[in-house]
Amino acid sequence: MAFVVTAGPTREHLDPVRFLSNPSTGRMGFAIARAAAMRGHDVTLVAGPVALRTPRGAKRIDVTSAREMLAAVMDAISCTADRPVVFVSTAAVADWRPAKCAPRKLKKGQMSAVLKLVRNPDILKTVSRRFAQNRKPLLVGFAAETGDPVAEARRKCREKGLELVVANDVTEKGAGFGTTTNHVTIVRRDGTAERLPMMTKTAVARRIVRECEGLCP
Ligand code: CTP
Repeated sequence: MAFVVTAGPTREHLDPVRFLSNPSTGRMGFAIARAAAMRGHDVTLVAGPVALRTPRGAKRIDVTSAREMLAAVMDAISCTADRPVVFVSTAAVADWRPAKCAPRKLKKGQMSAVLKLVRNPDILKTVSRRFAQNRKPLLVGFAAETGDPVAEARRKCREKGLELVVANDVTEKGAGFGTTTNHVTIVRRDGTAERLPMMTKTAVARRIVRECEGLCP
């Protein structure tokens, strides 16, 4: 099988030295890429700016912005020939970007106190809609929430046409950004939810890869 995995944050620049981003470290996505490569799958890892080593056996493509990430993902999926493809979207993609990016550093006198933003593409939704049914990858999303993760995961599953959503409450100790562990609930397309115990991200990754293997013909 082929796995295309996104990981880490995106950065949305307003000039060469300033950007909007988030604290994602990429650990969960890198763990999935490593677990899939260890199971012998062909893995492309599309990574935002992170400080992690490329898992052995994975092909890594570094990107900065959401739009670059989308282009790299579409390319990677299109290059998988006739094998079953799984797209695992762990990246914390910035939903908005500055309406303009200045080519040179803005002086403070040139900046306004109000920043105009425009929506970024939704990478999962785009992949879900762009590929014909017979070429559509199996889609796995993540939902890092601060409210009711399962209800949100069910909504995202429906709205983005996903097979699985891995949901967690980022306010819980040991389950947020930058931790080595995660406490997740797997929500499936049929609405069923399975809460896993607190595990290392490596163990969660193995579990997700096996689950995807079971869903692919
Ligand atoms: N995602 C994506 N492209 C985006 C935003 C999110 O592909 N522009 C993916 C994430 O990688 C994740 C899933 O969609 O797998 C859910 O992301 P999340 O940020 O939790 O949700 P949003 O779709 O942004 O929805 P909301 O802001 O309403 O929670």
